[in-house]
Amino acid sequence: MSAQIIDGKAFAAKVRGQVAEHVTRIKEENGITPGLAVVLVGEDPASQVYVRSKGKQTVEAGMNSYEHKLDADTSQDDLLKLIADLNADKDVHGILVQLPLPKHLNEDLVINSIAPEKDVDGFHISNVGLLGTGQKSMVPCTPLGCLMMLRDYHGSLSGMNAVVIGRSNIVGKPMAQLLLGDSCTVTIAHSRTKDLPAVVRGADIVVAAVGRPEMVPGDWIKPGATVIDVGINRIDKPEGGTRLVGDVDYASCAEVAGAVTPVPGGVGPMTIACLLANTVTACCRIHGLVEPEGLTA
Ligand code: GUN
Repeated sequence: MSAQIIDGKAFAAKVRGQVAEHVTRIKEENGITPGLAVVLVGEDPASQVYVRSKGKQTVEAGMNSYEHKLDADTSQDDLLKLIADLNADKDVHGILVQLPLPKHLNEDLVINSIAPEKDVDGFHISNVGLLGTGQKSMVPCTPLGCLMMLRDYHGSLSGMNAVVIGRSNIVGKPMAQLLLGDSCTVTIAHSRTKDLPAVVRGADIVVAAVGRPEMVPGDWIKPGATVIDVGINRIDKPEGGTRLVGDVDYASCAEVAGAVTPVPGGVGPMTIACLLANTVTACCRIHGLVEPEGLTA
């Protein structure tokens, strides 16, 4: 079998279009422009690329983008003061602090100082708790993008066996909660899981989010399963230079799976599209406006 490719790039363009439409409506009907503040501490090259891309796409969707670039040695107090100012700023509807933070900063404390209604990453403990109890919350962008693609491909996910490989707070845990919310039977696998191949072979849906290049081979995949590859790993090419690969061995998985997301062009573009969607959602909730349909869980 040759798997259908789930085109995250095209899907993300569609989501961005829906966001832009809703932004236009809010501006025209309510005179409000949704605004996203992104805070970057230090000079991590990958984070700089992400932040630039987030700012560009925010503006392209018709929203205001506020970038705050702070020195790597910024104190915790100064960072918390900036977040307090953004929490109080009426023009800012979404706040994202790019992770990882430099070691001297307490990531949990910083994230939990963001006003929960502006926490477009969905990392604040209030949002984590709301998601875990099936209540309306801000939903982390990468798992939200994965869920949108799965719903689009399958329609209902009810009763499917889903295995999430990876237990991070950013992807693995919220992904499991979202799949459970859609009535999947969910297993979270991780580095200590016994007989991981057997666990993965039982899955109708596999979400790989471990950060290990090409870790999941095709012979772990149940024929016809849907494979969502969250990994973005840069590896050396034998002939020199580098290339991006996922956590899944794409060539062998595509032989067996029913559908698979490519890297690049799968989950990656959906993450920023969902950040834009979350910013509009946050703006609507803060101002008591009708929320865009289909752009949240
Ligand atoms: N670093 C890697 N992924 C993310 C993300 O989704 N949000 C934030 N804030 N930082 C990240």
